[in-house]
Amino acid sequence: MGKRESFKSSFGVFAAAVGSAVGLGNIWRFPYITGMNGGAAFILVYLICVAIIGLPVLLSEFVIGRKGKTNPIDSFKSLAPQGKWYISGILGIMSAFLILAFYSVIAGWTLEYLTKAIGNQFVGKDVAEIGAMFENFIADPKRTIFWQFIILGLTCYIVANGIEKGIEKYSSFLVPALIVIIIILDIRAITLPGGKMGLDFLFKPDFSKVNGKVILDALGHSFFSLSLGAGTMITYGSYIKGNEKLGTSALSIALADTLIAILAGIAIFPVVFAFGIEPNSGPGLVFVTLPNVFPQISGGYIFAVLFFLLLTLAAITSTISMLEAVVSFGIDKFKLSRKKAAIISTILIFIVGVFASLSNGPLKDISFFGNNFLDFLDKLTANYFMTIGSLITIIFVGWKLNKKIIEEQLTNGGMIESNYMRTYYFVARYISPIAIIIVFLASIGILG
Ligand code: PFF
Repeated sequence: MGKRESFKSSFGVFAAAVGSAVGLGNIWRFPYITGMNGGAAFILVYLICVAIIGLPVLLSEFVIGRKGKTNPIDSFKSLAPQGKWYISGILGIMSAFLILAFYSVIAGWTLEYLTKAIGNQFVGKDVAEIGAMFENFIADPKRTIFWQFIILGLTCYIVANGIEKGIEKYSSFLVPALIVIIIILDIRAITLPGGKMGLDFLFKPDFSKVNGKVILDALGHSFFSLSLGAGTMITYGSYIKGNEKLGTSALSIALADTLIAILAGIAIFPVVFAFGIEPNSGPGLVFVTLPNVFPQISGGYIFAVLFFLLLTLAAITSTISMLEAVVSFGIDKFKLSRKKAAIISTILIFIVGVFASLSNGPLKDISFFGNNFLDFLDKLTANYFMTIGSLITIIFVGWKLNKKIIEEQLTNGGMIESNYMRTYYFVARYISPIAIIIVFLASIGILG
């Protein structure tokens, strides 16, 4: 077996993992679920979920990946040859596959909207026309599938180029680029007259708004946003060199992901409030609400283009991480070349993904447990696969994996200090699993 590829630099690890974490989840999903859950109080609950569940699971995935040095399924197998822990790896790879199938549809929408922004197509249309434009577009199979194909093609190209020359190289300039764009959008948003109400909505919590659903949404979103339970962070962990500090990496990645979600909120809510629009419009927030207001802002043309460019770039640095989880398995299991594994995986994902594209149009009446196919994939992965996969992962690290291995991974074999080991171990054993179980049972209606 050849030597496993690795990320060349610490910044490369950071950029690739932040690239995976920061995506449609931060810029499209986080703002709209914050809007639907009442603003600041939801954000606070979300921060707690990231701290006591997201961060420990992320660090655990890195530990498993770097120690296992292979794809998620075989990493569990090599660390625990007897048990069935590898089921977590199977769930992870299935999640990565299925999420990519529907995520590429929405990433494709962002590309269509980038071209609409460049073509100045939001100008001169009223609210109803902009709403109809979105509805007509997502129901149009030719256009949605075309853009989905482009997204998957780009993703396949980057992944086929490998870890250092593909994923690390592209993430290393796309992630800084998207941070610059988001800061420009923030400055525009907070200097809008009337924008302050948007900031209050984001930062002044109203605790009467916190209920079971808010907590559930916050937990589910923390898995999705940090790309947990999807095999991606275990896969990326397997490419992290022995001298990188896993604790520092996990902490900085979780912080960056959270910060960028909040920066996305700052770019969006002042704009929404400045124009007197309700913040709780749901998934259409960025595709309908914002195109309505861009033409009314001075410099709106350029800000619309930048905004949809931001969404597209953020989506691509995430899609490559999902494909990589599937591809790394294909390479190890079927002994395929990277290029072949990338092409075959992409074709299979595209085949499933087409049904997700069609589920807002020709197939919209076919229902899976009350959802169209796209929403079904979203719920199946976020509420079940990722949650159960993350739960198995954290129980594995807290209760099964030899403590010495964890210590070795956190201290780089005794080369560095890890004064957080005890806290992490305690949280991984008791706090995170119990919190996940309670929220999971509540979400499937057994509790609360
Ligand atoms: N974290 C990504 C986002 O917030 O958009 C979504 C994601 C990426 C989920 C990779 C799962 C994954 F494996």
